[in-house]
Amino acid sequence: MQVFELQKFGLDGLIGSDRAIPIPGYGEVLVKLKAVSLNYRDLLIIKGLYNPNLPLPIIPLSDGVGEVVKVGENVTKVQTGDRVASIFMQDWLSGHLSKKAAKSALCGEINGVLAEYVIFPEDSIVSVPQHLTDAEAATLPCAGVTAWNALIEGGLKPGDTVLILGTGGVSLFSLQFAQIVGARVIATSSSEEKLVRVKELGAFAGINYQTNPHWEKEVLSLTEGVGVDYIVEVGGAGTLAKSLKAVRFGGNISLIGVLAGTQAQVNPLLAVMKGVSIRGIYVGSKTMFTAMNKAIAHNQIHPIVDRTFPITEIVSALKYLESGSHFGKISLIF
Ligand SMILES: NC(=O)c1ccc[n+]([C@@H]2O[C@H](COP(=O)([O-])OP(=O)(O)OC[C@H]3O[C@@H](n4cnc5c(N)ncnc54)[C@H](OP(=O)(O)O)[C@@H]3O)[C@@H](O)[C@H]2O)c1
Repeated sequence: MQVFELQKFGLDGLIGSDRAIPIPGYGEVLVKLKAVSLNYRDLLIIKGLYNPNLPLPIIPLSDGVGEVVKVGENVTKVQTGDRVASIFMQDWLSGHLSKKAAKSALCGEINGVLAEYVIFPEDSIVSVPQHLTDAEAATLPCAGVTAWNALIEGGLKPGDTVLILGTGGVSLFSLQFAQIVGARVIATSSSEEKLVRVKELGAFAGINYQTNPHWEKEVLSLTEGVGVDYIVEVGGAGTLAKSLKAVRFGGNISLIGVLAGTQAQVNPLLAVMKGVSIRGIYVGSKTMFTAMNKAIAHNQIHPIVDRTFPITEIVSALKYLESGSHFGKISLIF
């Protein structure tokens, strides 16, 4: 499949179309989108690499923020004029992840948010912190909640050391949440320039994983041979073997991404012998999202938005994401 044939996703004529505005039903709200943000997952979906059974056509993207412009009957939790964001899994409100909730991801089995108007159940949206711009608030639903789930829900403590891999959306949110708690961060990146930027944001040390392919040894030497307490593992199969060496005995690895591939040999015995806790993370619940927003507001955190595009430049924005030159998030404004 061609990467950017968005027509296959039912998008032709969507932007600037004069189709009738939908009417929210019982317990639903109509949201006029103001901004969306891109995740690596969106690229995988559009390239046909995410889910071979994805029902097509489907509207892409999971992360959007907008204004409630109409409420259906019996809506009590939000009102017209509220600024809200989509929750990634529309049915995961609280508690642990269930099969039903996992099937409710936006642009999974249901349409996503790359649209001028979207109808949501009133429970499937959250208010966003007031101090954020629309472009910033649009970055929260996937990358923000994932980092929050990995570290804060994972029990990160003051004084802990966190390793982040690369300087994409999940990694930089992890840096910001680690700082709220008083944990220190070691970052890797393929770019010296990005390592300078991540240290300016407060990382304690940076390692270039391209010029220093044995970055796990560097992590051990930065931690007096002990290893880090937490790893936000966005690399996947290609980095896990090294992460298992870089984590301390009894440490924690949050399995999140596939940036470094999906196939590689990993010896699970190392996790056993080091007593490492490995936790699979699939974004997070509405309760986590709400807790994260409170912390973002109290700490006046601004998500790191690398670049903002007009919504009509969605293809250029996706190509920019694919280039990997971004630092943090990419947003689009309607
Ligand atoms: N499980 C979940 O719920 C969940 C949620 C969100 C994201 N994810 C996954 O997590 C991963 C990260 O997502 P994202 O949206 O944060 O991505 P992103 O913003 O596109 O991040 C891309 C960055 O990752 C770094 N990177 C690429 N290859 C790498 C490698 N081999 N080793 C270390 N770093 C590498 C690069 O940083 P430098 O340029 O600094 O090298 C690149 O710029 C993706 O695989 C995504 O699908 C999973």
